[in-house]
Amino acid sequence: MCGIVGYVGHRQAERVLVGGLRKLEYRGYDSAGLATISEGRVEVRRAVGKLDNLETLLDAEPLSGSVGMGHTRWATHGRPSERNAHPHRAGDVVVIHNGIIENYVQLREELAAAGCVLCSDTDTEVIGHLIEGGRKSGKSLADATRGAIARLRGSFAIVVISSGEPDRLIAAKNATPVVVGLGQGENLVASDIPALLDYTRDVLFLEDGEMAEVTADSVRLSTFDGRVVERAARRITWDPVTAQKGGYKHFLLKEIHEQPTAIIDTLRGRLDQDAASVTLGELEGLEKDIAALEHVTIVACGTAWHAALIGRYAIERLVRLPVDVDYGSEYRYRDPIIDSRTLMIVVSQSGETADTLAAVEAAHERGAKVLAVCNVLDSSIARKADYVLYTHAGPEISVASTKAFTTQLAAFYLLAVWMGRRRGALAAAEEARYVQALAELPLLVEGALKEEEAIARVARQLSGVSDVLYLGRGVNFPVALEGALKLKEISYIHAEGYPSGEMKHGPIALIDEQMPVVVIIPTDEVYEKTLSNLKEVESRGGRILSVTDDADAELARISEWVVPVPRTDSLLMPMILAVPLQLLAYYVAVERGSDVDQPRNLAKSVTVE
Ligand code: F6R
Repeated sequence: MCGIVGYVGHRQAERVLVGGLRKLEYRGYDSAGLATISEGRVEVRRAVGKLDNLETLLDAEPLSGSVGMGHTRWATHGRPSERNAHPHRAGDVVVIHNGIIENYVQLREELAAAGCVLCSDTDTEVIGHLIEGGRKSGKSLADATRGAIARLRGSFAIVVISSGEPDRLIAAKNATPVVVGLGQGENLVASDIPALLDYTRDVLFLEDGEMAEVTADSVRLSTFDGRVVERAARRITWDPVTAQKGGYKHFLLKEIHEQPTAIIDTLRGRLDQDAASVTLGELEGLEKDIAALEHVTIVACGTAWHAALIGRYAIERLVRLPVDVDYGSEYRYRDPIIDSRTLMIVVSQSGETADTLAAVEAAHERGAKVLAVCNVLDSSIARKADYVLYTHAGPEISVASTKAFTTQLAAFYLLAVWMGRRRGALAAAEEARYVQALAELPLLVEGALKEEEAIARVARQLSGVSDVLYLGRGVNFPVALEGALKLKEISYIHAEGYPSGEMKHGPIALIDEQMPVVVIIPTDEVYEKTLSNLKEVESRGGRILSVTDDADAELARISEWVVPVPRTDSLLMPMILAVPLQLLAYYVAVERGSDVDQPRNLAKSVTVE
């Protein structure tokens, strides 16, 4: 993870770098740091915690100079502290890094034996010392960086500056993103496009195994083995939407409430209500291959993986193709059996998740085409995939995913209907029925939001518990997983999602009078079965919170709390049922006083494996 930014030009670097870091703080907020070159010296400022702390330090001790770098950290090696914050200095060399150096222990030992004094617990620091070693033997900064890189194993995006060559910075990339921004008399590098857009719209994306030597007037790309790379710049035509809280106390609450609009944006232009059909112009190229497909593999992480599980139901039911779903972090270490008859679908809000990105590469190596369901335009995954179905959810600032999840579901429903028709598995009348039902979803989600006050009251009663079990069946089992994940990550309460029918195979042992059980129980084909599972909870004294579209007398009797939601086709219900669970997690977290938008230990974009 971590965000990196570098600047060479005619402005005060400090301001440019802090502005860039603001846009990158979603990548980590354990510490932040800046280094600039001024009057032939490199000056470094670092502070633990969020960027605000660094800004306070810079107010007291500003940095001058027009060449510099900035870093916002998500700690991997070494706990969050000032000494582990980037930039790291080694002699006249200063380095920042995003990624993991896997052989750093061996390199540390080697450097220490050679007399280097290592001042941090990080894997990054070795990079600076290796470069410094090269500099001492007379190499240029670029060549010394090249030499150091040859010793590294792992993933890295690095930026290096040195007072010995004060007019430039070096950036290098292997498996984590670096984008170069081309300005007039100034150039920048960053982990992500929005950090550059105040200064330029012309960018170059570094590929793995490449580095950039950047001065105010020039950018030279080359491979790690020294071959010059020529690449045309790309123009970024979209504007980053600056998200404001808009009167809400937290971004999370705002994003929960934005869901009806976000879902409209996902559906916009893709539902033709007159023709009663789904149109996905961006997937035109895929159309001719659909008949030959034999298999679909969906890969994602976290909340996106929960959306993928629901996507599997939709594709199996409407397209009648076998689907398997895997975690990005697991998939990359299997020896998956896929080929050109498999469609891989990757799901990622950020488009930067390292494990999901690696799955794209694995699919391509085996000849499979990749379709990305993605929110962030021009992100690494969007650029690598063969087809992209953007969710258009708008910026999701809060670390916990909410509108990204429901819009991913909307994208899956669209895709399943579209593919189902093209494979002949879905009749026109069924397509028409789904088009109608999809068009109604935003209003139904709006309806689910109306229960907010009641949910806040329940949250007050639940905020003191230490464990919660979430149960769901069929297409709503992933909703249980998602509800539990939301609660865990923002309230720090232990929660587990289980298929209702699995409860008696183990978790039922946990149930007593202290144990709330949240059950997702719409009146679908498995309602009766889930109700039976709840009776098992009731007879063991568990406290039941039911989320349902229609509580019959028996469900009402055994539930301590009932949260009603609107009803639609059972396949589409997860989108509506997820909403009260998001609100519940939010209000429990608020009650417990946690940092709702930036929960401890997390980052919005997970760019390390
Ligand atoms: C949970 C959450 C994470 C992400 C996961 C994948 O609320 O946000 O679990 O869903 O890190 O991120 P993306 O979708 O960016 O690949």
